[in-house]
Order: sequence, then C-alpha cells, then structure tokens
Amino acid sequence: MTGPDQQAERVQIVDVAPRDGLQADPADLSTDQKVELIRRLVAAGHTRVEAASFVSPKAVPKMADGEAVMAGVPRDEGVSYSALVLNQRGVERAIEAGADEVCGVVVATETFSQANQRASVAESIQRWRAISDTARAAGIRTSVTVSAVCGCPYEGRVDADRVLGIVAELAETQPDEVALADTIGVGVPTQVAALFEGAAQQAPGIALRGHFHNTRNTALANIAAAIDTGVRVFDSSLGGVGGCPFAPRATGNVATEEVVYMVHEMGFDTGLDLDALIEASTWLEGQLGHGVPSLVAKAGGFPQPR
Ligand code: COA
Ligand code: ZN
Repeated sequence: MTGPDQQAERVQIVDVAPRDGLQADPADLSTDQKVELIRRLVAAGHTRVEAASFVSPKAVPKMADGEAVMAGVPRDEGVSYSALVLNQRGVERAIEAGADEVCGVVVATETFSQANQRASVAESIQRWRAISDTARAAGIRTSVTVSAVCGCPYEGRVDADRVLGIVAELAETQPDEVALADTIGVGVPTQVAALFEGAAQQAPGIALRGHFHNTRNTALANIAAAIDTGVRVFDSSLGGVGGCPFAPRATGNVATEEVVYMVHEMGFDTGLDLDALIEASTWLEGQLGHGVPSLVAKAGGFPQPR
C-alpha cells in the first residue's frame, strides 16, 4: 500500500480517554489533569479528541466538570473536540462550552438503554433527532454511536438486524458519522465485518467509525476486520483506560498506542507520533496511580537496529 512515492492512506484515530476512559477509571483526575491529558494527546498529533460529556452529573459525577475542561483545551492547533450528549440540555451545554462536535448514543438493546440513559431505544432515537437538529442549527458536527452492537451485558446476544435497523433510522438524520460500538468487548472479526458491511448499506455516503473495548482481547482483530470493509476512523483510548459505569465488568477501549502501532505497520498513516503517545501513556499511569492495559506502552514501537 505504501511505496516511496505513494502517500500512505489515512486511518483517523479519535482519542476517547478523556471521556470514555476517565469516566470509568477508579481514579478521580482534577480538571487540570484532564486538560493536561488532552494537551499531551494533541501534542502527539491527535486532531480529534472526545474531551467531555454533558450528561447528568448525578449519573456520571466524574464528567461534571465538562465546561471547565472545554475552557482549558488548546485551541490553536486545529483540533476538533467532541462531547458526548444524550439530551437537549446536554447539546445546549456542549454548544455553549464550544464543542466542535456532539456525539450521541443509542443503545441497541432495551435493558441496557434503560440502564444507561433511562429511555427506550425508540425514545433515545427521538432524543437524538432533537440533538441533531440543535447541533446542526449551531453549525457543529454530529456523530451518533450505536452501542452494544456485538452483545449486551443484560440481554446477551444482539441480533444484527436490530442494529442495522437502528443504523437506518439514524442515517435519516444525515449525521457526519455513525459509529458502531462493541461496548462490552465481546465481538469477533467475522461479526464485526458483517455489521460494518450491513451498516454501509443502511447508511450510504455516511462515514462509519469503529469503537471497540478490549475486554476479551479481540479489539485489534476487530479493527483489522473493519479496515478490510473500508472503515477508516476508530475510537481508542490512551493506555487502554476505561470501562463503562453502566456495563458490569466492561473494561477499557483498545489502547491508542496499540492501534497506532498496528495500523502504521500495516502501511497506514495516522499523523500520530507513537513515541509521544507511549510517553503520554506512561505519564497517565502516574496520574491515575495504577498501570494501564496497553502492551505497546510496555514493549515500545518496532525495534530499531542497534
Ligand atoms: N446536564 C446536566 N444535568 C442534567 C442533564 C444534562 N445534560 N440531563 C439531566 N440532568 C439532570 C436534571 O437536571 C435532573 O436533575 P435534578 O434531579 O437535580 O432535577 C436529573 O439530571 C435527572 O434529569 P432527567 O431529565 O429526569 O433525566 P433522567 O433521570 O431520565 O436521566 C439522562 C436521563 C440521560 C440525563 C441520565 O441518565 C444521564 O445523564 N445518564 C448518563 C449516561 C452516560 O453518560 N453514560 C455513559 C456514556 S454512553
Ligand atoms: Zn466505549
């Protein structure tokens, strides 16, 4: 794919450590520490960062300082900051705080949807329609994630047709991107490939993004499978930190530095500096006061000849 005169094809990585990662970590980082994390992600080359969520502070206390985080992030580097929002109040807060993109979530199963956002699947699609209208009127990007697409912590296996039906409904709102999330890290490459192939048919012309938790160590294999179907945007979390407060036993997103190592070696360009990411990951361990799951952070990048 790469040759001396060919430009490498791009894979874009959205770092979700500041939101998806930190919201489920046992450590409580201060606003300043969160801003410093984002600064380090940007310094390593990130151009898209999920910086905050604007949800009920009672539901997710660790994200209560979204406004203050957004006020502190570096603004001169052309980075797009997204914020997770689940209702009208959330999108209004995100716009006011200067988010460049809002990311909504529709859970694929009823039980998990109730646990996560106290709404049925149909209600949360309605909420997304309103969020999308408001965000669009404010001129900011919209993306929406269908979560628990490979399996649900409460209902077990999830029918692919159910997921694809939701994708088709969400595509009606013409978001800039639709993401499919394996929230509890149960998916395998064959399943993931089929889901993304189906989603591409249901959402023609809309970019697709993959979001994989590494709970059962299948996330990198799933990313490779999604790449094969043409997906070029993935969420990942520095160090692999995270989980989900509403999904028992869920663990972190796939580690950014592991995805970057893999896709660089596959010949793609990400614009990211692997060494800087590993350094940031080591810094993050220090801030959290515990180790992170990333293997690449321990092993380093490809060995240089000595
Ligand atoms: N920002 C700040 N506060 C909010 C809010 C928002 N976006 N949305 C709701 N609230 C507050 C309300 O003011 C209310 O506060 P009060 O009890 O002091 O009056 C309380 O939260 C409940 O509001 P209500 O509209 O009745 O919501 P709900 O109880 O039906 O809960 C959600 C729905 C979506 C607001 C809530 O479940 C939530 O924020 N969940 C977070 C889920 C999440 O972030 N998951 C992880 C990522 S997918
Ligand atoms: Zn997630």
